[in-house]
Amino acid sequence: MTNTPDTALARTAAELDEFLSRRSLRESSGPADSLRVTLRPLTPDDQDEYVELVRASKDLLHPWMSLPSTPEEFQAYLERFDHLTSQGLAVALRDGGAMAGTIYINSIIRGRFQCASVAYAAFAPTAGQGYMSEGLSLAVRYAFEQLRLHRLEANIQPGNHASLKLVERQGFRKEGYSPAMLFIDGEWRDHERWALTTNTPDKAHPSLPAR
Ligand SMILES: CC(C)(COP(=O)(O)OP(=O)(O)OC[C@H]1O[C@@H](n2cnc3c(N)ncnc32)[C@H](O)[C@@H]1OP(=O)(O)O)[C@@H](O)C(=O)NCCC(=O)NCCS
Repeated sequence: MTNTPDTALARTAAELDEFLSRRSLRESSGPADSLRVTLRPLTPDDQDEYVELVRASKDLLHPWMSLPSTPEEFQAYLERFDHLTSQGLAVALRDGGAMAGTIYINSIIRGRFQCASVAYAAFAPTAGQGYMSEGLSLAVRYAFEQLRLHRLEANIQPGNHASLKLVERQGFRKEGYSPAMLFIDGEWRDHERWALTTNTPDKAHPSLPAR
């Protein structure tokens, strides 16, 4: 089954709505306004704000992550988010709705793996205020509780202390080290391999074999 970009967007929006309205989420996070951020899908309408924020965040992003910095690159980038294998999320401030950062749930593999890879970036105007920690904790719960994944991976360059701290705070464990793993900013860069697993057999995804 494939998704058109509109269908993919609608499916991600519906899954996020269902997740964010869950009683278990409200109970564990306290009243809705105790979190300062929420998650929503990245949409074509985010183009101008996104491109402007990426340009303003050039020094923060370099050399850790390359993100689209023109309207054309942004629109092409959105096409990869087909919901089934990849989802692009905005971390939005509850107060006013501005984007504090973005989180990508990529390389979703079902069957016996039930695994995805997470990537994320803060935007400079609101970085370092805990918004990404809140956003990532929501995204991790969304991935486990709503998408019913079993494992999340984060691949991080050894010198990226802000990112290493961020995943450590979420309970990710370091599993290994891969030389020349990802092509970023013109180079094949070494990465530490971090991951988090959950075990909720009663909530297994339907594509997980019975045994
Ligand atoms: C990695 C990255 C997303 C972290 O974003 P961030 O905005 O610094 O994240 P947060 O604000 O949630 O957390 C950072 C700090 O805010 C602090 N903070 C401030 N107010 C806070 C609050 N109210 N609640 C929680 N933390 C708060 C935290 O203590 C934390 O500081 P510490 O790391 O020194 O302990 C950001 O540095 C980034 O975008 N880097 C470039 C792209 C990148 O590397 N992506 C990942 C590739 S693997």
